[in-house]
Amino acid sequence: MSDVAARIAELTEQIREANDAYHVRDAPMVDDAFYDAMVRELEALETAHPELARADSPTRSVGAAPQGRFPEITHREAMLSLANARGPEELEAWFRRAQNVLAAEGLAERPVKFVVEPKIDGLAVSLTYERGELVRGATRGDGVVGEDVTQNLLTIAAIPVAIPPTSNIGRAPEVLEVRGEVYLPLAAFAAFNESRVADGLPTFANPRNSAAGSLRQIDPAETAKRPLALWCYAIGAWEGEGRPPSQWDALAWLRTNGFPVSADIERVDSINEAAAACAAWEARRADLDMDIDGAVVKIDDGELQRRLGAVGRAPRWAIAYKFTPTTATTRLLDVAVSVGRTGALIPFAVLEPVQVGGVTVRQATLHNQDDIARKDIRIGDLVIVQRAGDVIPQVVGPVTDARTGSERPFAMPERCPACDTPVGSPDGEVRRYCPNKSCPAQLVQSLIHFASRGAMDIEGLGEKTVSRLFEIGLVRSVADIYSLTQEQLLGLDGFKETSARNLLAAIDASRRMPWTRVLTGLGIRHVGDITANAITAALPSLEDLLAANLEDLAAAEGVGPVVGGAVIDFLATKSNRDLLDQLATAGVKTRVEGPRGPVVGPLTGATVVVTGSLTAMSRDEAKRAVGQAGGKATESVSAQTTFLVAGEKAGSKLAKAEKLGVPVLDEERFLRVLLGTEPPPAQ
Ligand code: IVH
Repeated sequence: MSDVAARIAELTEQIREANDAYHVRDAPMVDDAFYDAMVRELEALETAHPELARADSPTRSVGAAPQGRFPEITHREAMLSLANARGPEELEAWFRRAQNVLAAEGLAERPVKFVVEPKIDGLAVSLTYERGELVRGATRGDGVVGEDVTQNLLTIAAIPVAIPPTSNIGRAPEVLEVRGEVYLPLAAFAAFNESRVADGLPTFANPRNSAAGSLRQIDPAETAKRPLALWCYAIGAWEGEGRPPSQWDALAWLRTNGFPVSADIERVDSINEAAAACAAWEARRADLDMDIDGAVVKIDDGELQRRLGAVGRAPRWAIAYKFTPTTATTRLLDVAVSVGRTGALIPFAVLEPVQVGGVTVRQATLHNQDDIARKDIRIGDLVIVQRAGDVIPQVVGPVTDARTGSERPFAMPERCPACDTPVGSPDGEVRRYCPNKSCPAQLVQSLIHFASRGAMDIEGLGEKTVSRLFEIGLVRSVADIYSLTQEQLLGLDGFKETSARNLLAAIDASRRMPWTRVLTGLGIRHVGDITANAITAALPSLEDLLAANLEDLAAAEGVGPVVGGAVIDFLATKSNRDLLDQLATAGVKTRVEGPRGPVVGPLTGATVVVTGSLTAMSRDEAKRAVGQAGGKATESVSAQTTFLVAGEKAGSKLAKAEKLGVPVLDEERFLRVLLGTEPPPAQ
């Protein structure tokens, strides 16, 4: 056998295995990027050597044939798959190919519009209606024959069981197939996995597998327990008159007839605008309550679609614009353990460096020992690493099929890796804690937390500098930060006149930070910024807090006996009270200042939406800044929005603001408004 034939055979085998794992066992073996790379390589080889292409090649079929668990259903119109484009160049290349075909058909002059939709990472289904009544719901199966999962689909409340007469023909179509994607919203997925942990059941690796598993339950009552959702994106068969003439019209028709269709789908006039709309979806993917793994660009005009037709398993008139992959496969070299500011021992993965979404990842979180055991992650495993938006990368799970037998399980240390004190687990907690309050690792982490953006926001006092200052004994507690001098800093590696002066200025500026930030920075267990806000709203000064009992604390929103108890314990400790004294002496605020009640600032009365990515701060920080300036930050643009702040890659919210005539501010202008050097736009 030639090398090429051998490679084709090998790829065919691997893709089949991966397909089986994904579609049949709902347990993916390889990540999407790797899978796509295999399919692309196989396609390229088949194109270059058509004589070696096999009739049963996995590049020619979609998914996997039904398993016999449910009755089979033949779709009236095949459920196709989509070819992929990675990045704007490939998107343009796709359109050029389509244009060539259209030119050959004598349609070169016809204007082309594009519809850009999210590509939801769920499970494709087809709903069949006869004379307006839902008669069947099926999975995609191999694209031709799927499984009858009508009873399970009926548990999804959003699916209309009957559709009204259509205005243009005065009745419902004879036969109609509606295509959509069933998915599990991320919040529901998290809650569902939690309940499985509580019941001692294995958890699902991702929402897609969980949705697939849920839809293919034998008992619909079981499916009903899982809050599946649906987005519809196409019409398949339509028998009789009145078929909507374009994709845009089809979506409008679906919406009007009660089918759930994403509100943010856009129609644009050029391929460049389509690329921009795809980029906008990518920018907002982390904000959505569903996994999307790309955007779909469709040529709008139904007549053009018909003329373009399909090649193999994919239509020529649509393409999936794939996002930068956020999962990758790499080797787990070791599991190391760090100590957090509360003393919690936190295992993390030491990885063979790998590119995920354009960033090199060397470490990833592993949560806790139970999680490692539950996912059966072993040192030496090939693991799937996931990175979403700004979040810390995490290990999804091992590729168990790739094991050689030399992998070894991980055991949590019995002693603190920083101070060698024996560790323990408080009642009912999975985590292990180092009980030593002078454990250097905990102290350094507490200092880092105090200086961090969400607390005192002391720029220049990051992990490296804090560790150094701690090691040489200059800073042992957060109060010591305020007695640092220029000379001391100049004695440190990496500090020059300017950097030392800047750090001291940042430290000085933190003296003006509100008391709520100080309270957040203390790192009292369970007291993050939201709780700190609630506490200072009820008890506005340190004196009030010192005089408070559990009941007084309970007046603060969200503070119950656990949080209240933690605050009281903290303040009952003499060393902590001394620390607060020292901070007060250093000029740090210990009471809420300014008018009580609603904050008055440059944004009082304003409702603000922040979208896209900003350079000076994260979106969360921007929202907090809006609140501190007296305004209200909300998520969605409406006529009530005072203005929209649009960062880089702003997407549909920007479009909506423009449509509604809501003023749009760029980052620079927003910062001027926040500082009060420019008035906010009038509503
Ligand atoms: S259109 C003829 N639109 O992606 C084109 N598909 O790889 C058929 N999907 O099987 C698909 N969101 O499961 C289309 N907005 C969308 C989609 C979408 C998700 C899934 C669907 C399909 C697969 C194609």
